[in-house]
Amino acid sequence: ADALKIGVAGLGTVGASLVRIIHDRQESLAVSCGRAIEITAVSARNRDKDRGLDLSGVTWFDDPVTMAKTADIDVLVELIGGAEGAARAAVEAALERGLHVVTANKALLADSGVELAAAAEEKGLLLNFEAAVAGGIPVIKAMRESLTGNTISRVYGIMNGTCNYILTRMEKEGLSFEDCLKEAQRLGYAEADPTFDIEGNDTAHKLAIMTALAFGCEISCDDIYLEGISNITQEDIRAASELGYRIKLLGVAQRTEGGIEQRVHPTMVPHDTVIAQVDGVTNAVAIESDILGDLLMVGPGAGGDATASAVLGDVADIAKSRPGTQTVAALGRPAKSLEPYRRAR
Ligand code: NDP
Ligand code: HSE
Repeated sequence: ADALKIGVAGLGTVGASLVRIIHDRQESLAVSCGRAIEITAVSARNRDKDRGLDLSGVTWFDDPVTMAKTADIDVLVELIGGAEGAARAAVEAALERGLHVVTANKALLADSGVELAAAAEEKGLLLNFEAAVAGGIPVIKAMRESLTGNTISRVYGIMNGTCNYILTRMEKEGLSFEDCLKEAQRLGYAEADPTFDIEGNDTAHKLAIMTALAFGCEISCDDIYLEGISNITQEDIRAASELGYRIKLLGVAQRTEGGIEQRVHPTMVPHDTVIAQVDGVTNAVAIESDILGDLLMVGPGAGGDATASAVLGDVADIAKSRPGTQTVAALGRPAKSLEPYRRAR
């Protein structure tokens, strides 16, 4: 079969890891996917930055939209970030042109996921976004594929690696909030604007996506009660610990009699639970459903390689699919079927 040609927009923490991994594993990927995966185009802001990548033979685009519109590619991989601007324009242009899209951009999906899913479905294209929730943990595949037919009653967990990293190091090493945040930024865990992490918006974006997948309702961050961790002090952490709890930033979405309740806030979690033991950048996502029962997935929630692993899995799914055999709708069911839900509050 012909190689699957991909264009990577964004060569930062995740994009650079992805390019490196695909270059290093060309042969094994070709065997796993039944065809080669070839990066033919890339785009980032600064052409002169040394990224330690071998980009020989790869076409460089300063503008990701021009790449989406004109490059010799089958798939646009969007790793720029942001609900608006270049990321959004490039994804829209790619779908318009008839390209499959892979993205890790939860801000974009939380804002426009239903519209983008509908645009992809209309053209029989794949819109894959495993990396958008919980980094490398395959929660999207679980939700939109494995749990089909289950009625889901609750989804909750630790969905932001930066916050969990900060809370863990504050508690275990007595470090300051600011020092922990700086380290999370240095390690590539934080968003370009880290207030999205520490004020809970990033968790809200992920929760909104999970809510749509779990309950078949429209994505709406406005319906989420939101409180971040920026006011949590060492004293709070110590007081919780003396009472037998650890403080975790949780996202929770559940069915209630009044509709779907969604909230993101620091939560006291009993010491002896699995979630309380989840440390550092690790995420944990629990899904409660009627046929399967309780599922808990724990694993790397942020960072270049962990996230690139999920992006690569999405690219591989496209490489393995045959034209016209789109079977899994982007949001687990046709986008047009998503119904607005009554607010819990
Ligand atoms: P970075 O900030 O490290 O990288 C962003 C990249 O986008 C950079 O290469 C930058 O170029 C490029 N870029 C920015 N604006 C433009 C533009 N207008 N035109 C072209 N290129 C542009 O981000 P991350 O790699 O950390 O994140 C990428 C995406 O993945 C985001 O949506 C993020 O939320 C998501 N994500 C990140 C995770 C992580 O652990 N980091 C985990 C899960 C998801 P230049 O390098 O030249 O500045
Ligand atoms: N900033 C995000 C986090 C990246 O810390 O979890 C992964 O989505």
